[in-house]
Amino acid sequence: MRDARGNPVSTLSGAALAATEHALWRMMSFYGTPLDDLAAARAADPQWLLPPLMECGFLLSLTEPSVWPQATRILNACEPLARTANDRERAHFAALKALLAGDWTGACTAWEALLLQHPRDALALQWAHLFDFYRGDGTSLRQRVARVLPEWDAGDALRPYVLGLYAFGLEENQLYAQAEATGREALASARVPWAMHAVAHVMEMQGHYAQGSAWLAHWHPDWTDGNGFQGHLGWHHALFALEALDANAALQCFDAHLESSPEQITLQRLDAAALLWRMHLLAMPTGTRWQALASGWPRPVHEAGRYPFNDVHALLALIGSGDLPAARAWAASVTERAELAHGHARDVARDVGLPLMRGLLAFAEERFDTAVQTLYPLRAHAQRFGGSHAQRDLIDQTVLAAAARGGGHSAGRALLNERRLAKPVTPLTEHWAARVAAATRPRP
Ligand SMILES: [Fe+2]
Repeated sequence: MRDARGNPVSTLSGAALAATEHALWRMMSFYGTPLDDLAAARAADPQWLLPPLMECGFLLSLTEPSVWPQATRILNACEPLARTANDRERAHFAALKALLAGDWTGACTAWEALLLQHPRDALALQWAHLFDFYRGDGTSLRQRVARVLPEWDAGDALRPYVLGLYAFGLEENQLYAQAEATGREALASARVPWAMHAVAHVMEMQGHYAQGSAWLAHWHPDWTDGNGFQGHLGWHHALFALEALDANAALQCFDAHLESSPEQITLQRLDAAALLWRMHLLAMPTGTRWQALASGWPRPVHEAGRYPFNDVHALLALIGSGDLPAARAWAASVTERAELAHGHARDVARDVGLPLMRGLLAFAEERFDTAVQTLYPLRAHAQRFGGSHAQRDLIDQTVLAAAARGGGHSAGRALLNERRLAKPVTPLTEHWAARVAAATRPRP
């Protein structure tokens, strides 16, 4: 049998295949989770390798430490099923083994090999795109999708979601007009939160905060309708508010989409920490939100050092909650554990994650000179840390805040120059410009 895009599958069960198709749509659209569909597929054909692989890959794509044991159990149980699987499914199995072992680059290489053989393998494309994002591989965010997009039929039900991936890749490569057009094309035929997101990024990077806020308000019913991307798009909505220095609107977004709860996962906590940190830099009151975030953030020491991006945001939560001893202890755990990690994670921790933590701790300890001297040089290779340009702007804003507190006028001036040429001067830029300038005036 073949799936809806012509890829070979080793099941003979139409019910199992239909359930995996629905799961795939959920994974690409973020509406609900694919777990119930995958359970149905497994029930319909317990001998088929692909449904448990999809479940494992979905869990790992969350970068959520609490689900790693479950993902490990699922993958270990796949070994007997691999004997009756086809080559494509076994290649996915190998990619997920690499992913589970922490070899994210190896997993992306395996998915690339799959895409050369099967350009409409949506699973390989979706997962490679997410891990290109997590690895900060901006070139692949655009080019990996470009290498397969022309192979997708105009009428394919999943093509709008592939366009959404491409729109984001274009945006991360500063091709804003093309990114916006591609995102809008995707949205012309389907509800594609990744495309809504890509266009929001286009507006964020160009300083079009009022337009961006209106864009997300327009699509609000669609990205809040049981969508797993809700927290992140709520974060983007709040960023537009902060660009206008509207603290109340930013907090409304936080409370609607990022408030701490037992169901919250790390990906959502990252955005909560990133938003509260920006507000902290601006000395905007945030009530008890930091404390709620930090106390609900599980940080098992044995999981420290797995992914520097997550580790740094956990540090922000501890600093923001006012618990500096816990923040220092967490940074020490991450430093120790990062040396035990493999390849990419260890290298990125050494080169970006750990120095970034040291710079943030220096800022928290009001050693603003050290904060600027530590954070400023990181900007040159911070992309390896993962996330988007908009997420990594947190580093720039921390340097500006440190410069405004006397930590280094020349670095602050340089960043403001860069900002003024990248986008129109916004209230946020005016705010930092005034404070960096004030920090250089001799005190009476
Ligand atoms: Fe984003």
